[in-house]
Amino acid sequence: KKAIMPAAGLGTRVLPASKAVPKEMLNIVDKPAIQYLVEEAVAAGIEDILIITNRGKGVIEDHFDHSFELEANLAGKKNKEKIYEEVKAVATLANIYFIRQKETKGLGHAILCGKSFVGDEPFAVLYGDDVTVSDDPVTAQLCRAYEKYGKGVVGVKEVPDELISMYCSLDVTPLEGRAMSCHKIIEKPTPEQVMSNYAILGRVVLPPEVFGMLEKGLTTVKPGEELYLTDVMSELGARGDLVAYDFDGIRYDMGNKLGIMKANCEVALKHPEIGESFKAYLKELVKTLG
Ligand code: UTP
Repeated sequence: KKAIMPAAGLGTRVLPASKAVPKEMLNIVDKPAIQYLVEEAVAAGIEDILIITNRGKGVIEDHFDHSFELEANLAGKKNKEKIYEEVKAVATLANIYFIRQKETKGLGHAILCGKSFVGDEPFAVLYGDDVTVSDDPVTAQLCRAYEKYGKGVVGVKEVPDELISMYCSLDVTPLEGRAMSCHKIIEKPTPEQVMSNYAILGRVVLPPEVFGMLEKGLTTVKPGEELYLTDVMSELGARGDLVAYDFDGIRYDMGNKLGIMKANCEVALKHPEIGESFKAYLKELVKTLG
């Protein structure tokens, strides 16, 4: 019933776009990336969401709040009924809470900021810059796997050889259907360290005990280093408590420029308002490319 969305990273790979606008607020056609995440979580039955922010990310809070001036302006206006309802609905999607990660000490540290919020129950993590699209919400697929196996679940996909060093590599053995047992995870592997091309792509469901493991890990982090979430997940894997789930769906990486363009292009093609005209435009454009 609870999810954490870390959105306090610096977004250096998409600068200067992310200088004043958080990368989690970069849009895909007509909605910011983080709204897709909140909608996915809600569709998976999650009621309470904690977004981890930092200084300069206040617009995320504004986005999920009412905008009285805007709503008053749109209310009752002819031809604006639909957008009025849409704008109003964003503020009531879920119970959304915010906390600031006061130092950018890595994803593990960001998740640790959610300790009191989560309490003593399993929770989902949706990485703020990873948008997934699926008829069956990816978070729901992972929650079902968690219920079935009673173990932490990481959402994975195979990534091409040339990209695995930018992700993490998982040591896995088949379990059943899309589920695999995950024994070990190496973050940003060298070619010699690659165990498989399965990498975690932005969605995990974890037991609350990871907070104790993160707290312990934090004591060994040196100044300038990051606390990796993958380290505690690897620890779960080493004792047989982690499942890797090859989820059904597409994942867009809003943390890099090509990912942003792919997301916009593919979502635009399916968009009820502009899908057809965008397709016609693309067809013409492709012709000129030869
Ligand atoms: P990334 O490593 O992709 O984000 O973290 P980043 O650090 O912003 O990326 P670059 O390399 O500088 O471009 C995945 C998610 O975790 C959040 C990010 O906001 C992103 O949504 N994150 C990362 C935090 O909340 N806190 C951190 O300390 C690090």
